[in-house]
Amino acid sequence: EDVAPPVLEGIETLAELEKAVAAFEGCPLKRTAKNTCLRAGARRPRMLIGEAPGRDEDLQGKPFVGRAGKLLDKMLAAIGLDETSVYITNTIYWRPPGNRTPTPQEIGSCAPFLARQIELLRPEVIVLLGGAAAKSMLETTEGIMRLRGKWKLYHAKERDIPTLATLHPAYLLRSPEAKRYAWRDLLMLKERLGELEKD
Ligand code: URA
Repeated sequence: EDVAPPVLEGIETLAELEKAVAAFEGCPLKRTAKNTCLRAGARRPRMLIGEAPGRDEDLQGKPFVGRAGKLLDKMLAAIGLDETSVYITNTIYWRPPGNRTPTPQEIGSCAPFLARQIELLRPEVIVLLGGAAAKSMLETTEGIMRLRGKWKLYHAKERDIPTLATLHPAYLLRSPEAKRYAWRDLLMLKERLGELEKD
């Protein structure tokens, strides 16, 4: 089924973007989801992108408020970050039924908004949580185990933004033995943020 792509002209602030997402009918998931989950946290230039809202996120209309979110909070706290110092969103704004993986078409339907979110936020770094975000933002089909732990550039309209892919907290809940990789990635992030603070 053909749907109109998002109209981004005239969107100059994050508040305007949020209004436009709320009015958008081009992502079929909106019909089955309870809420739009667009962002959590402050409008600060450190951005995290996850996969998709789950049950708790759909109920509360906010990304990463469920079990995976609790683990994410702990991971961020371990390197001195909290909800007030990061901006969290997902590759899509609506929950896929039964938490299935979003399709490329669903991710594609929200991608122009996500790109604009990034342009307006101007993050200094972007952390990509899990394969869906990493593959979509880095435009690759490589697996998350190959993509994680490396700084790679995301080409935004006006500039390139360093991104760091890591394992998704929901995956870490299922496979706690993989936490050591995520920990290495977090230390890379901490080091980079420390350097940026010196600039
Ligand atoms: N998993 C995600 O990728 N995003 C959320 O918001 C919650 C769980």
